[in-house]
Amino acid sequence: MRLRFDQKRIDLVAQFFEGKEPQEVLRWALKEFHPRIALASSFGAEDMVLIDMMYKIDPDVRVFTLDTGRLHQETYDVMDAVREKYGIKIEVYYPQTNALEQMVREHGPNLFYKSVGHRHLCCQVRKVEPLKRALSGLDAWITGLRRSQTPTRSNIRKVELDMENNKIVKVNPLAEWNSDEVWNYIRLNSVPYNKLHERGYPSIGCEPCTRPVKPGEDPRAGRWWWERGEKECGLHYRLRR
Ligand code: ADX
Ligand code: SF4
Repeated sequence: MRLRFDQKRIDLVAQFFEGKEPQEVLRWALKEFHPRIALASSFGAEDMVLIDMMYKIDPDVRVFTLDTGRLHQETYDVMDAVREKYGIKIEVYYPQTNALEQMVREHGPNLFYKSVGHRHLCCQVRKVEPLKRALSGLDAWITGLRRSQTPTRSNIRKVELDMENNKIVKVNPLAEWNSDEVWNYIRLNSVPYNKLHERGYPSIGCEPCTRPVKPGEDPRAGRWWWERGEKECGLHYRLRR
């Protein structure tokens, strides 16, 4: 049976978890929704923290990833490290073959550099549509979003109703954390991480759309660096085309 949370109840839960540790949020969410809950992971630092925390609560956790086909080799290496250390069978979603073939035939493999519209089309085909499929069998999903990552995320709550995705519950246990807290946890708990983080990549997406940032630069400046405006790909916010 599908559990439904209305806005009033979600507001109360979100209020309750303000100021509380991420593990408390995860414990509640896993108890409430497992097995119809999964972490969306790009294997960035935040997601690695969450994998470690979730595994320690219940080794039978679910993790899915959207493999766009354009990821860095280093990202696949972390995926392997997770399989080895935690024994988690990662649920991998790929773009739909027909849509991908048509897009590349029409616009070429590097369409994202042509215009914001082309970039959004690529993100739609390679990320957003697979996300919809991944969420279709879930009542709740967990993300590594943090408020301090970017202004578009400054108002997120730890527990929300996901209006873009059939009003399932979206859980953001690290909403209140800053980058130092993420890295302290990784070091203290010997959590595996993407080696690109040591080479100037605070935020990691697809290989052709991510570059390192200079010291002091905005952590998301390396994402779609040739664009101005919102640095989002449509996983968390509807893209304006
Ligand atoms: S993005 O929207 O700009 O790409 P970002 O890289 O900051 O997002 O990651 C924020 C959160 O979105 C991650 O912590 C993770 O929960 C989810 N996410 C991002 N990329 C993926 C992916 N390829 N597969 C699964 N989840 C992802
Ligand atoms: Fe395509 Fe770049 Fe978006 Fe990845 S980040 S889906 S390569 S436009």
